[in-house]
Amino acid sequence: MKIEKYSKQYLEPCAALYVEVFNDKPWNDRWNASSAKKRLLSIAGQEDFRGLVSLEDGALTGMVFGSTNHWYDGKIFNIDEICVKKEFRGKGAGRALLGALEERLRMDGVRLVYVLTARNNYSDRYYLANDFILSKDIIVLTKRLGD
Ligand SMILES: CC(C)(COP(=O)(O)OP(=O)(O)OC[C@H]1O[C@@H](n2cnc3c(N)ncnc32)[C@H](O)[C@@H]1OP(=O)(O)O)[C@@H](O)C(=O)NCCC(=O)NCCS
Repeated sequence: MKIEKYSKQYLEPCAALYVEVFNDKPWNDRWNASSAKKRLLSIAGQEDFRGLVSLEDGALTGMVFGSTNHWYDGKIFNIDEICVKKEFRGKGAGRALLGALEERLRMDGVRLVYVLTARNNYSDRYYLANDFILSKDIIVLTKRLGD
């Protein structure tokens, strides 16, 4: 397995992977190539964007996208998306992507990484297995403005 910095050449395969992963269980979203590309472009367009991909024999198997932002006491990093192709899960690609990301973020002086994800699905266990802790202080509120 190889971990590489994301570049534009990976946009199409990343969008295809994104559709495949998040239209599947447990997420059951309804992405298509165009909406997925828009989402990834909007993340990759952020000022302090960082993205990494995992490759097997040159083919994309996983990706992590996010960006650094600034808090009063230093830099924090939001993971927007992380996913690994189904056939390659459970073999350490997810851990390797996070590990490589954390290594780069430490060099950038980032002091905290955070992620929003669904409650009660396995992805929280993935983060807990990677030494994340569930915040007791922060809640997420949402307000629907249309259908
Ligand atoms: C979450 C995801 C990225 C994990 O990738 P992966 O390559 O399977 O993860 P790894 O094999 O590196 O596993 C890393 C650790 O997480 C744990 N883990 C991974 N998937 C898990 C699951 N389904 N249930 C419980 N723990 C899990 C592993 O046990 C491992 O810990 P260990 O080394 O102590 O055993 C992958 O399952 C995925 O793409 N899921 C769909 C997209 C998603 O849910 N993304 C996250 C929310 S945004």
